[in-house]
Amino acid sequence: MEKIITAAGKNYEILRLLGHGKGGYSYLAKCEGREVVLKQIHHEPCAYYTFGNKIESERNDYQRLKNAGIRIPEMLALDTENERIVKEYIAGDTVFDIVRDRGNADPYLPEVREMAARARAAGLNIDYFPTNFVVRDGLIWYVDYECNGYMDEWNFENWGIKYWSRTPVLPSLRSISGITINCLLRFLCHDASVGAHVREGRRLPCGKVSCKAS
Ligand SMILES: Nc1ncnc2c1ncn2[C@@H]1O[C@H](COP(=O)(O)OP(=O)(O)O)[C@@H](O)[C@H]1O
Ligand SMILES: [Mg+2]
Repeated sequence: MEKIITAAGKNYEILRLLGHGKGGYSYLAKCEGREVVLKQIHHEPCAYYTFGNKIESERNDYQRLKNAGIRIPEMLALDTENERIVKEYIAGDTVFDIVRDRGNADPYLPEVREMAARARAAGLNIDYFPTNFVVRDGLIWYVDYECNGYMDEWNFENWGIKYWSRTPVLPSLRSISGITINCLLRFLCHDASVGAHVREGRRLPCGKVSCKAS
């Protein structure tokens, strides 16, 4: 069954869900023969974050990242009323997929470090969690527009790098919950609040870790 969603006066055919985080649901969609990403902002509560106006944040963060010279997909349309954003689709594996399949994303460390240096020079941190990076033709793209004021604690070397290879976090979670690593990986992929837990040094609530989340 075909599903059509309208954003800023244009109709988009929804092809599939790409991912879902604390900000919204990102779908692969088609409009006028072109594949794009349509992100629908959601208002699901997240105990570890306080949100302001999400659509305004996306707009401002996009501009800050552009000015900082971070490689991000083009913003193609913004529908404030319906809280939808249309962006260029970057086809490829996420860094998360690469870590899962190969154990690490070492070949991309020089690139992410260059990105991190640009972000820092502009006084910013980006969300270094690996679901937010897609590799296309050997280049990494930061596909989430979120950015925050720079703090040492959440920079790439102190925080993000832990998730750019299989870390002890994953096996220890498996033993806590007793679920398969696959379910956990899918869970991590679809629930960015896990990233927030880790970021804030909290223990993960094992009750939340279930195959249903995938
Ligand atoms: N432009 C894009 N190209 C390819 N994949 C994308 C793109 N935008 C988002 N995605 C996928 O959708 C997921 C969720 O999108 P994201 O904008 O990061 O949402 P959130 O703000 O909720 O974290 C991403 O982790 C990524 O896997
Ligand atoms: Mg994200």
